[in-house]
Amino acid sequence: MKKTSLRTRKTQLSRLKKDLKANLSSFLKIGYALRAIKEKQLFLLEGFDAFDNYCVSQWDLSPNKANYYIRLVGAFDNIRSAGNSEKTVLPFNEFQMGHIVRLPKEKQIQAWREILKSISKEPVEQKLNARTIKRIVDLHLNRNGAGLTSLVKPSDNWNFQSNIYLPESVNGHGYISGEVYANAFWYYVKEGDLVVDPMAGSGLAKRVYKDRVRWMGKEHSYDFDLRLYDLTPQKPFIKQHDMLEGFPIKNPDYIFMDIPYFRMVKGQYSNKKNDIANILDWEEYLKVLSVVAQNCFQAQKKGKYCTVMASNSRELSSGKRYMLASKVVKLWEEAGYTLFDKAYSPRHIQITKSTGMAVLNNKAKSKRVMLTDMTEILTFKK
Ligand SMILES: C[S@@+](CC[C@H](N)C(=O)[O-])C[C@H]1O[C@@H](n2cnc3c(N)ncnc32)[C@H](O)[C@@H]1O
Repeated sequence: MKKTSLRTRKTQLSRLKKDLKANLSSFLKIGYALRAIKEKQLFLLEGFDAFDNYCVSQWDLSPNKANYYIRLVGAFDNIRSAGNSEKTVLPFNEFQMGHIVRLPKEKQIQAWREILKSISKEPVEQKLNARTIKRIVDLHLNRNGAGLTSLVKPSDNWNFQSNIYLPESVNGHGYISGEVYANAFWYYVKEGDLVVDPMAGSGLAKRVYKDRVRWMGKEHSYDFDLRLYDLTPQKPFIKQHDMLEGFPIKNPDYIFMDIPYFRMVKGQYSNKKNDIANILDWEEYLKVLSVVAQNCFQAQKKGKYCTVMASNSRELSSGKRYMLASKVVKLWEEAGYTLFDKAYSPRHIQITKSTGMAVLNNKAKSKRVMLTDMTEILTFKK
């Protein structure tokens, strides 16, 4: 290679490196801009009444993603504020920050110090990578308090800012996030229990179970016997069973059921007559659910728990309201259970959808019919 050509190539490389450096940190610019627009309510100037709608309509950015960028810069500022010199090394790309932000604010600085210490013998910038950061962040999550992770919620508000476990459906349906399973299992399942999800859908429960060390914490993790069934199994590890015929197995210690939403998912799982999703008549739907409640009750022994997820729903076109959660309480109590506890979680659909959701939101407001965004997680005791 000629001398001049080598010099040209070196200049070119150094220019490209500068470009890369500037662009890899562009997530910070996005985050700071969004944060200012949100905090100062600048979206009002363009006729939007809410930040979420503004992000979707103006930038085709889901509110979830926009708020994620804002959290990234929050975490970045947090780490930077703890640095004691101009030369403090900071994360330089979105993937690296994406791990730090998984930690609660008060743990971010400590974890960052440990990360820098772990690579201190090397030329630091060169050794800094997302893999090292993830390893130390994971350790911190498993070391949280009594060894519990922040994925398990300490309150009845099971609201997850970002989801690790998304629906596993092969047909693109299924709305709940696996974090709901993790929390339900954490609160209600003991070691060795027989746990049944008789309407397992995509089989997300299994994935969450397999990953249990992450949310149980290493020192606290244990095994239990998880069985999945469904009228229309989508995966080979789910057995076929119709809940209207009885319960698939004797003496389950814990049942978790995400029942098909009323009138929202017709034909989505199957065209079968005994598919609860296909029942369009409210009274008929409740009658069928009462059979499900009785079948659960008959299969369980005294003192065992059964969790049912239930969303209220409303029809935009007719304005009809279906208050399912209180009906489920009634049906399960009639079957013989007592209501043991309640938690609340957003239905996954609202937190990730983009433009289509904004259109629906506007329709909801103009029709004065609210959309369904919450699920009640109702736990009963026999
Ligand atoms: C809301 S989905 C469950 C989604 C699941 N939580 C997941 O993570 O993918 C409801 C499920 O109930 C099933 N189902 C409907 N009628 C049923 C019946 N009679 N017996 C058993 N399962 C039924 C459907 O096939 C569907 O998979």
